[in-house]
Amino acid sequence: MELKVIKASVEKGEGLGWGKSLLVPSIQEILKNDSQSVPERYIQEPKDRPLISQNLFDSLQVPVIDFSMLAQKDANEIRKLDLACKEWGFFQIINHGVREEITVNMKAAMAAFFELPFQEKSKCAKGANEIQGYGQNFVVSEKQKLDWCDMMFLKTFPHETRNFKFWPLTLPGFKEAVEEYSTEIRKVSNKIDANLSVLMGMDENGLKRKLGEFQQGIRMNYYPTCSRPDLVLGISPHSDGSLFTLLLQDDEINGLQIKHKEVWIDAKPIPNSLVVNIGDAIEILSNGMYKSIEHRAISNEKKPRMSIATFVMPGDEVQIGPLDSMVNEKHLPRSYRNIKYIDYIRQKFAMKMQGKAHTAIVKL
Ligand code: OGA
Ligand code: NI
Repeated sequence: MELKVIKASVEKGEGLGWGKSLLVPSIQEILKNDSQSVPERYIQEPKDRPLISQNLFDSLQVPVIDFSMLAQKDANEIRKLDLACKEWGFFQIINHGVREEITVNMKAAMAAFFELPFQEKSKCAKGANEIQGYGQNFVVSEKQKLDWCDMMFLKTFPHETRNFKFWPLTLPGFKEAVEEYSTEIRKVSNKIDANLSVLMGMDENGLKRKLGEFQQGIRMNYYPTCSRPDLVLGISPHSDGSLFTLLLQDDEINGLQIKHKEVWIDAKPIPNSLVVNIGDAIEILSNGMYKSIEHRAISNEKKPRMSIATFVMPGDEVQIGPLDSMVNEKHLPRSYRNIKYIDYIRQKFAMKMQGKAHTAIVKL
């Protein structure tokens, strides 16, 4: 879709809520009938296929940040965080303080949901004009290639954004697990937000003061096994529209890849860690100092993979634009225009996942 068309429809305020997406079949269900099948709609164009056997950059590692050192305001660790945000847009945090019991329960609750019969899961299905619920988002054309993934997206904070119509409330323990996990993750995200505020030239409460109460949404990704992982993508290359995202990934199975200096490298799992990545909103607020980096997920032949992405976002009505502390007309001219967050998110949901294409709309 042309950016101009989206811009016009965004400015007219068309579409309610955050957006819509065509309804697509569940890949998990397709594979129940034929586990070897790779339907044509999922086969990527040759230029987009992942090179599964390429391990040339195996030695490159996403930076690891010890969160307990940040809490002690350790200057070295803070410097590492700054570099990780500037040079990678991604880091893994260890000693983040979320008890293992809580992440274990969250993963178990998600697994139990995806193990339910399709009829049961469908009770939480998203509608075409919804982005919350069970299904898939970012599908805008019948011709578009589909991701090898089923997902469940739920808004979790502020409380009033929770829409229990999409929650499997009869699944024992699900609601409790998501509520506990989202509360604990919010504590971690508050600390990240305080650190980023300081790194961007403000005091610890700078971002909160500017943006108000943050929103939180959780996307659970279920990637079934695939007989031809070289032909498909678990999740297409994209950057996240959030301020930042915290990803709980499988402890053993590789899948997440990030584009670092033009090559795709694996974000290898570290047990009990969380992967954090800078989203488009921090890229804009930081005037491009911290970039939201393209990432994707690949599938594998051996085991289904699950991941849980928590997006931390400004409120819908908040204007985002480069912070005064990040603009200097001489050395750091303003390179993004201001935009209301909901308008940004609507234009993002109006496109397929396509690398960083959606950030172009706010570039000056
Ligand atoms: C996402 C995402 C990566 C993964 O949900 O936005 O990038 O490894 N997920 O599942
Ligand atoms: Ni992502």
